[in-house]
Amino acid sequence: MALAFIRAAPAVRRVVFKSNVARVATLSRFFSVGSCLRYEKPESIVIDGKSYETDDWTNLPSSILKLVGRNLHLNPNHPIGILNSLVKKRFGNMGYTHYDNFKPVVSKFENFDVLGFPEDHPGRSKSDTYYINKDYLLRTHTSAHEYYCFKNCETPGYFITADVYRRDEIDKTHYPGFHQMEGARIWKKDENVIETISKDLENLPTIDIIVEDTPKSYDDKTNPKQEYMSVEEVALVSRHLKRTIEILVNEVFHLGMIASKKNRNNKKIEPLKVRWVEAYFPWTAPSWEIEVFWNGEWLECCGCGLVQQQVLINSGKNEDTIGWAFGIGLDRIAMLLFGIPDIRLFWSEDDRFLKQFKEGSVNYFKPYSKYPSSKKDISFFINSGKEKGNESERGFHDNDLYEIIREVSQEDLIENVNCIDNFVHPNGKLSKCFRITYQSMDRTLTNDEVNKIHEKIKQTLAERFDITLR
Ligand code: DAH
Repeated sequence: MALAFIRAAPAVRRVVFKSNVARVATLSRFFSVGSCLRYEKPESIVIDGKSYETDDWTNLPSSILKLVGRNLHLNPNHPIGILNSLVKKRFGNMGYTHYDNFKPVVSKFENFDVLGFPEDHPGRSKSDTYYINKDYLLRTHTSAHEYYCFKNCETPGYFITADVYRRDEIDKTHYPGFHQMEGARIWKKDENVIETISKDLENLPTIDIIVEDTPKSYDDKTNPKQEYMSVEEVALVSRHLKRTIEILVNEVFHLGMIASKKNRNNKKIEPLKVRWVEAYFPWTAPSWEIEVFWNGEWLECCGCGLVQQQVLINSGKNEDTIGWAFGIGLDRIAMLLFGIPDIRLFWSEDDRFLKQFKEGSVNYFKPYSKYPSSKKDISFFINSGKEKGNESERGFHDNDLYEIIREVSQEDLIENVNCIDNFVHPNGKLSKCFRITYQSMDRTLTNDEVNKIHEKIKQTLAERFDITLR
């Protein structure tokens, strides 16, 4: 369990955030930097027993640190853990090593640089990512471990399951901590490579699934093949990648179909329908996404592609290595399959939630109660950067507000935050209004409690940012 505490020495003020120790809920002074000017930050942050010096990049708040180490994906009776085990079992003897114990702190190098993220990629910004300091951050995706796995994995392929973190909006499907599964497989490009991959393809199990895939030519400019691979190699590796992902999603969604009310009354279960669409990722070419047809909608599910040669070379592989990689988000899928209405529930420690799920089975969540909600607005002018168009140039990003909200309401008491008004006043200042929906998963909130939190959010916002409340 990852938690935090402050230690303040009397003479030189030394503040330390620490994980894996004890829960102390008095960290509200030490928040995200974001772009705010007035805040105190600790000199160092300790996570998983390792101490990191803080600097101008530090923006990791205590509310996020306390999620680190919960390891929901390792709990066999938790929806996220159930999905993890299902996939592990499905690919059990197919040549993959399963890693699910990687620690969440990674270097900027592993998360971005080695994968070829451009310097100006938005994912690198402080408004999107939790930085511990300029060199270390909480991984924003499981691809951050590709470097380690390509270097060290001894089987042809690997899977990684882990918690990942992003600064994000607040609503029923977004939470700053969530889960991904990564997979990859490589081959040596020798004289037998065509035969080897063809054999591996033949060995993949056949499944009953409807696939829409428009054949593509690999010489297009938007999603080109890499020069070092032949058309035949690209075709075979892509086929292996796509078939593998189809097997994975079919495994998971098939159980979801059995669980869904509609299908329990129907004897015959229809085959799953999926389609392939073109995509872009800095570290793969060509790249795709699979979409799954679920409850009448196409659901974006999983990004993938053929790994860029440079990434493999950077990870110590020979120039003649070829392979694929994919990454899939687990929380959205688990919400659909288990009928979970709000992503916050995954982090609940309430037995009424936890006791409903059992290893190996996908069953529908029975809501224990829907507690009343109340809505309150916050409106303000951003005083700085009058002539600037872009919000972050004005010194404020919506994610900064979401962070304050999460921090002040330590207990996940907010269901949704909506920006309901956003306009530039004739005086040049940007005016914003946010509507906050307060609603607990576990109890009824009193008016008094909600008012106190709301006032605290307003006060904190006004202290940290150059804004005027309206
Ligand atoms: N890391 C990507 C994300 O978080 C998902 C992904 C896409 C992973 C393509 C991959 C890949 O390995 O090849 O959105």
